[in-house]
Amino acid sequence: MKVRARAKINLTLEVLGNRPDGYHDLRSVVMPVSLEDDIEFSVAEGISCSVKAMDGINLSHMGPSENNLAVKAARILATEGRVKANVGISIAKRIPLGGGMGGGSADAAAVLIGLNDYWELGFTRMELATIGAWVGSDVPALALGGVTLMEGRGEKVSPLFGRESDTPAKPYHLVLVNPGVFSSTPAVFKASTFNRELNGSSILDNMRSALAGGDVEDVAAALNNDLAEAAYGLYPEIARTVQALKEAGAIGVSMSGSGATVFGLVRSRAHGREVISRLGGNYWCRLAHTCPVM
Ligand code: C5P
Repeated sequence: MKVRARAKINLTLEVLGNRPDGYHDLRSVVMPVSLEDDIEFSVAEGISCSVKAMDGINLSHMGPSENNLAVKAARILATEGRVKANVGISIAKRIPLGGGMGGGSADAAAVLIGLNDYWELGFTRMELATIGAWVGSDVPALALGGVTLMEGRGEKVSPLFGRESDTPAKPYHLVLVNPGVFSSTPAVFKASTFNRELNGSSILDNMRSALAGGDVEDVAAALNNDLAEAAYGLYPEIARTVQALKEAGAIGVSMSGSGATVFGLVRSRAHGREVISRLGGNYWCRLAHTCPVM
């Protein structure tokens, strides 16, 4: 059995402040994108995991397989579902590591969704999102899927547009660019100095209406990432990549998550190809689109 694990971008990411547990309270609009890892399940003794690099992805920051979020997700799901876990997980990786696109979390979310079917457990997506919060902060949003509002440390998720039928189905074309630095999420959070209002957010309201209206210029104008300045300070290469992507003609540019991946909104695939050719081959670049519905 095969499942796909979609990466995500953060269209907005507001840091509301520190929490007593060492995490930060966030408010973020998360959207899955068409860059995917492939995950395949097979029968095994216990839980095992193997990872292979696709399309030139660098796996040098990959930890031991028992620490892989996909393994953690399988273990927790087996406990919650009261099944004996005998599964081999093979991951073909296309999502860069340390890239702010939730690669490890995407794999974990896909494992929850896939094994829920494979083991016939019958959990809903919202229940899988709740289980996913034990695995990592980005897992709930990716387990829920679609355009998601993420709050708390990441564990509170809801569809941004209420009912699925209200979700604007328009995909946006993107150029994803990774400058090749591995961004440390804890270091970036630690260096961020934001402290926003808990209630009421013009950043969120602007993004919601831009997505509802469907004009890419409005979405570009509504992009926000409170972690960007901290990440630029730690990894100046990210700031240079943002500048390069703007100069290459992307309509709106922002960093995803805690970096290092930067994305640029473009009008079409053809426009995306032009932007990539102007970037001149110095970076890892992929043309992708957002996936507003599951
Ligand atoms: O939950 P996850 O393991 O993905 O988080 C990685 C690190 O990112 C945490 O250890 C913490 O330093 C930081 N983080 C945070 N606030 C969040 C999410 C992550 O400070 N809401």
